Amino acid sequence: MHSEAIAHPNIALIKYWGNREQALRIPANGSISLTLGGLDNRMSVRFDGELKSDTLVINEAPAAPKMVERATKHLDLLRIMADVADRAELVSETNFPLGAGIASSAAAFAAITVAAASALQMELSPEELSRIARRGSGSAARSIQGGFVELLAGDSDQTSFAQQIAPEDHWSIIDLVVIVDEKMKHTGSSTGHALAASNPLQQSRVADAPRRLQACRSAILERDFASLIQIVERDSDMMHAIMMTSEPPLHFWTGATLQVMAAVRELRADGVSVCYTIDAGPNVHCLCLPESESDVLQALASNENASWNVLRAQVGPAAQVV
Ligand code: PMV
Repeated sequence: MHSEAIAHPNIALIKYWGNREQALRIPANGSISLTLGGLDNRMSVRFDGELKSDTLVINEAPAAPKMVERATKHLDLLRIMADVADRAELVSETNFPLGAGIASSAAAFAAITVAAASALQMELSPEELSRIARRGSGSAARSIQGGFVELLAGDSDQTSFAQQIAPEDHWSIIDLVVIVDEKMKHTGSSTGHALAASNPLQQSRVADAPRRLQACRSAILERDFASLIQIVERDSDMMHAIMMTSEPPLHFWTGATLQVMAAVRELRADGVSVCYTIDAGPNVHCLCLPESESDVLQALASNENASWNVLRAQVGPAAQVV
């Protein structure tokens, strides 16, 4: 029983931060993302009755016990559904840095879900796969789908899943990911989500989410880039305001993060249509249209801190068996 899948990370345009229900990862608010083509997690899953426990190798190195534990917990969901007890050997290869705010867990749990379901010969719809992926990592629910994707917050396991707003070829947005730091982030998002609920600012952020989701959805459907970048940048800053004012506070931005944010604002002041958005890490996603890509790259390269590595992603496809 073996299968392989490729899944992509995604970048949230409207962020998910905080859970309504922690154990099932029912998010406090809905979220919207772009699936990131060009950044791949290729996951092989082999179930084997001879194995004593699940194993996980990531980019040729054995994964930390905590990660294996999390993968086991996720595989258990699928094993129970398929009524199979076999342990599995997981081998993952990625072409982007892990744990640095590039939604590596989203790609990983989407890939495990799709590969394991296929290996176990389960016939599951994208909606069912998305619900299962959500249990591994909330944002993984979105990586099941390609293109422009919305994770419906819902209020139960059944009603919380991702659906496509527009397909991959709807709009050629480019994500230039400025890697200011390749190291693993110090606080994982699972810990971060748990801190959000006790932050008084979170209530306002969640209450206002339907407005931001609607603005983002309309901007996508109308291909209105000026409106999109306005709401995306605001939403990212709002999430980081929650992070920074949690107890204990989470500060993911570094000096270099702020320099890239300033460079993006300067570009905009010069008439280039671009915005930044930042997940739970220091790296900065710069979103632009193809006609602005060279201006953005040039500005990043001519910055006094020009040693940054820039990854390029475009709107990508759904997670799929290969
Ligand atoms: O899926 P998680 O638990 O890693 O949470 C993702 C949180 C953010 O990346 C910061 C926002 C998002 O919506 O992807």
